[in-house]
Amino acid sequence: MASIRHILAKITFRERDDPLDIWATLAFYPQVPEKSITISLFDADGVCVFKCLLNRDTECCRVGKESVLITLGYNSILLKFESHADLSSFSNTLKRCRKEKKESSVFSQRTEEASAVQYFQFYGCISQQQNMMQDFVRTATYHRAILQNHTDFRDKVVLDVGCGSGILSFFAVQAGARRVYAVEASSVAQYAEMLVKNNHLSDKIIVVPGKIEDISLPEAVDVIISEPMGYMLFNERMLESYLHSKKWLKANGMMFPTFSDIHLAPFSDEQLYVEHYSRANFWYQHCFYGVNLSSLRGAAVDEYFRQPIVDTFDIRILMARTVKYTVNFMDAKEADLHRVEIPFVFQLTQSGLVHGLAFWFDVAFVGSLVTVWLSTAPTEPLTHWYQVRCLLHTPLFAKEGETLSGKVLFVANRRQSYDIQIVALVNQTGFRSGNILDLKNPFFR
Ligand SMILES: C[S@@+](CC[C@H](N)C(=O)[O-])C[C@H]1O[C@@H](n2cnc3c(N)ncnc32)[C@H](O)[C@@H]1O
Repeated sequence: MASIRHILAKITFRERDDPLDIWATLAFYPQVPEKSITISLFDADGVCVFKCLLNRDTECCRVGKESVLITLGYNSILLKFESHADLSSFSNTLKRCRKEKKESSVFSQRTEEASAVQYFQFYGCISQQQNMMQDFVRTATYHRAILQNHTDFRDKVVLDVGCGSGILSFFAVQAGARRVYAVEASSVAQYAEMLVKNNHLSDKIIVVPGKIEDISLPEAVDVIISEPMGYMLFNERMLESYLHSKKWLKANGMMFPTFSDIHLAPFSDEQLYVEHYSRANFWYQHCFYGVNLSSLRGAAVDEYFRQPIVDTFDIRILMARTVKYTVNFMDAKEADLHRVEIPFVFQLTQSGLVHGLAFWFDVAFVGSLVTVWLSTAPTEPLTHWYQVRCLLHTPLFAKEGETLSGKVLFVANRRQSYDIQIVALVNQTGFRSGNILDLKNPFFR
């Protein structure tokens, strides 16, 4: 099945000023079954200078008559074939493997392909990994949680779900882990591998490229570590991947983080409410370059109000003590997160207009030595999760001592996010309000 061709291969590394431009022998052969092709490039001395796996998700395109451009994360490689026949042979093999039906994993069943592509492209960027690593509260708390519970890691086998740069895997090794499987689905896996090699830890950290739902490990693990929290905790639906990974956990294994609390409270913020309406007022114009836009104002209001607002605020806007909902990662199953219903009854501590509900979350690392908390509360130092507020369509007037009851319903969607439904009632007056929001499309204020 293997087919060897002589080609001119120009390998361009984006971060290099001097693209490598060499004659090489290309060996390509389909894997069995034909879901991917391995390509290897050998220089004149027979040394392998480049190797990669192409599958149906690999970005490839034809360039001119006899070349193919392959993009692998930030790297690209241009294969210039000697003849059209060579190109056809290569393209046909690639086409066959692209047609091959993808096995339907738990992840692909619950995710639209376009969403997954965009999602993993985002995390494939070094800058996005840096952004998370530079969130001092986040990274330092993970470091503390792992190192202060070193007895849970010493000589243990660890699984890092969505390792990104691999930073948590390095922490696990610092705490004494014997081996860490660092699973990462985006192309940043190749950079994690570079860091592992460069830190001389290839004997301890094994980077496994792929989705946690699809990969296989050679052994069960003692501890699972991960940072799967999105905005409002649930965004990205990565918590489900974290729960899925428990299939690799030994019976008495540990989860870091162990559980999470999502907090909600009613807030009053006239300025935010007016600001949101004003954004839609652009569409109220009757003569925008001579065009009447006003028929779209209603749709604009609806769209803006569907956006959860990501920012921070002074806690004095909160009108009651929070209601808390816990997700215990040790017990929860993936399906528990398909529909999350949070009932609430708030006893109001001040009178005024309730404009919406504010949300934040904490996670706890319950170790054998200490329990460490990572909090995104408005009373704590700010993190890259900020806090999230959902407006009610119509504000509700309520007095101190009255009760606001209702529920928040999170329904998972195939865009790796949630549709949020809020209904609220002031029990003493019967005033009602609510809203439906799209967590996939937040407004960063
Ligand atoms: C929030 S980042 C955390 C990265 C790193 N662990 C850290 O703490 O800096 C989540 C990472 O998980 C990866 N990821 C998300 N879902 C995944 C899945 N189902 N399988 C493997 N990796 C996944 C993303 O590509 C991303 O790099």
